[in-house]
Amino acid sequence: MAKTLHAWLYGTHLAEISSNSEGTRLGLNFTDEALTRWGTGSTILSMSLPLSRRHHPQARVTAFFQGLLPEGQQLTAMAQYVDVAESNTFALLAEFGKDVAGALYLTTDNEPEAVPPHQYRPLSLEELAREVETSRLDQGMDAFEPLGNTPTLRGRSLGGYQGKRLVAQFDGSWFDPVGGSPSTHIAKPQSVNVNHPDLTENEAVTMQFAQRLGITTTESELHHVEGTVFMTQSRFDRVIDGPHRVRRIHQEDGCQATGTVPGRKYEASGGPSLQSIARLLAPAERETFLGQLTFKAVIGDTDAHAKNTSFVHREDGRVTLAPLYDCQPGLHYVANSLAQRINGVSTFPVLSAADLVAEGAQWGIDIEAASRIVRQTVVGMAVEFPALDVRQGNLAAFEVVERRIAQFVANV
Ligand SMILES: Nc1ncnc2c1ncn2[C@@H]1O[C@H](COP(=O)(O)OP(=O)(O)O)[C@@H](O)[C@H]1O
Ligand SMILES: [Mg+2]
Repeated sequence: MAKTLHAWLYGTHLAEISSNSEGTRLGLNFTDEALTRWGTGSTILSMSLPLSRRHHPQARVTAFFQGLLPEGQQLTAMAQYVDVAESNTFALLAEFGKDVAGALYLTTDNEPEAVPPHQYRPLSLEELAREVETSRLDQGMDAFEPLGNTPTLRGRSLGGYQGKRLVAQFDGSWFDPVGGSPSTHIAKPQSVNVNHPDLTENEAVTMQFAQRLGITTTESELHHVEGTVFMTQSRFDRVIDGPHRVRRIHQEDGCQATGTVPGRKYEASGGPSLQSIARLLAPAERETFLGQLTFKAVIGDTDAHAKNTSFVHREDGRVTLAPLYDCQPGLHYVANSLAQRINGVSTFPVLSAADLVAEGAQWGIDIEAASRIVRQTVVGMAVEFPALDVRQGNLAAFEVVERRIAQFVANV
C-alpha cells in the first residue's frame, strides 16, 4: 500500500496525507506551496482544517476524508473491489479519490491531474439508462457498479447512502467519465427502499420547485427510458468550459466542516446543530441558509442532516453556502422527526414559522430580516406550487406539502 497520498486542489499540491497501517487514522501535512498560495489559517480545504504547519488531530483529519466516501452498500462494494476493510479510508481514497465531491484530486504518485480536455466515453440515452441501473442498491454484486466504479475501473467517490452514478453531459449528450475525469452530473436510479419507493421522483419535483424559487441552481430532470426511471442532476461543484473541459469547484459538507464523522450526521446521534453550521457562514450567507431551512421545513424533509448542507470554497478562499440539494418530502411516510432541531423543536407536528424566525435570530440575523426571509420563502412556495408537475412524483407526498404550505402561509 502507498505510504502517502498527494492532495491537489485548484492546480496546487495542497498536502500530503499519511496513515496508520490500517488506514483508519490519517495525518495531514500542508505543503509550502499551499501555505504560500493561500496563507496560514486559510480554510480553502475545510473550515475544520485551516492551513497550518502544525498537525491537526488525526480524528479530525480522518473525519474529513471519510466524508469523501459513500456510506452503506456502495462503500461495502468499493471496499470489496480493493479487498480492504470499509474502515480503511486511506486505501479507499487511494483508489477512488480522483473524482470526488468538490475539487480535491488524490494521487499516490504525486502527479497532478492532466489538463483538459479530459477523457469521456459517449453514451446514448439508452446506454445511460442501463448504466444508471447498475448503481441500484438491489443490483446483484456481479452487476453492481457503485457510482460507476467497477472492480477494475475505479476513481470516483461521493458521500451519501443512496445508489448513484457519476456521469457527464456536454451539449446535451451524455458521457461516461474515463479514469478520474470530472463528472458534471449525478444520476440517481429509482429507490429500492420499500419504505421510500418514490424518493427519486419526489426529489426531482422538489428540486425543480427549489430551482423556481432560486433556492438551488442545480437542474434536475426525470428520465423515462425503456421502462426505467432515473433522475439526472447537474453538479454545482463543476464548471463546464466546453466539451470535455471541466473545472472542479471545491465543496465540503456540514459534517466535514465541523470535524464530524459521517456516522454522526444526525444531531440526535451527536451530529452538528444548525447553529454550529450557521456560525461558519458570513452574515449574508446565513440569510440564504435560513431560506433553505424554511424551504426544507415546509417540504417536510425528514432527512435534512448535516451532510445535506454544504459549503462552497472558491479558489480565492471565499466561502458561500452551496445551493440546496438532496431534499424531498418525508411526512407522507411514518417519520416525523427533524434531523436537526429548529429552535429546540425536534418533531414536525409542533414546528411553526415562529421557530424558523427564532432559529435565524439565534444565528444573529435581526428579527425583522429573519421574519421577512421566512415569509418570502413561504409565500414564494405558495405562488410557485401550482406550476409544479407533482404527478411526476408521489401525489400523496405533495398533497401533504400543499397542506403544509397553506398552514405556514396562514402563520407568517
Ligand atoms: N447537485 C450536486 N452538485 C454537487 N454535489 C452534490 C450535488 N448533490 C449532491 N452532492 C454531493 O453528493 C453527496 C451525496 O448526494 P445526495 O444527493 O446527498 O445523496 P444521498 O441521498 O445518498 O445522501 C452530497 O452529500 C453532496 O456532497
Ligand atoms: Mg444526502
